[in-house]
Amino acid sequence: MRPRLAFVAVLAALAGGCSQSPSDPLAERGRQVYLSQCTQCHAVDPSQSGPVGPPVKGSSRELLEARILKGSYPPGYKPKRATNVMPPQPALAPEIPALAAYLK
Ligand code: HEC
Repeated sequence: MRPRLAFVAVLAALAGGCSQSPSDPLAERGRQVYLSQCTQCHAVDPSQSGPVGPPVKGSSRELLEARILKGSYPPGYKPKRATNVMPPQPALAPEIPALAAYLK
C-alpha cells in the first residue's frame, strides 16, 4: 500500500510541475503555429536568435499583428533589426491571439 501511495504522490507532483504553461490550450495552439510558420527563420526557442530572425519571446499582440499582418511595427516601437526581410502572412490573422498567448 505504501509504495503505491508514494507513486501517486510523485505523479501528482509531476503533473503540478508541468501544468504551468503548456497546458493552456490557446498557448499550445500558438506553439504549433509558431513551429510550423515561424521557425524557418526564428529559433525553435523563441527567446533565442534564429537562423534569420531575432528573438520574439515577449512580443505583444500589437507587435505580432503589425508584423505578421502588415509587415510594419506598432507606432513608436523600436525594432530589434533595421532590415525588412520578414514577409507578412495575413492569412495568419485568426492565429494572432494564440501566437500572443504562446509568446507572451
Ligand atoms: C522568412 C523569415 C521569417 C519568417 C517566416 C518569420 N519571420 Fe519574424 N522576422 C524575421 C526577420 C528577419 C525579422 C527582423 C526584421 C525584418 O528583417 O523583417 C523578424 C522580425 C519579427 C518580429 C519583430 C521582432 C522585434 O521585436 O523587432 C516579430 C514579433 C516576428 N518576427 C514574429 C514572427 C512570427 C510570429 C512569425 C511566424 C508567424 C514570423 N516572425 C515569421 C524573419 C521571419
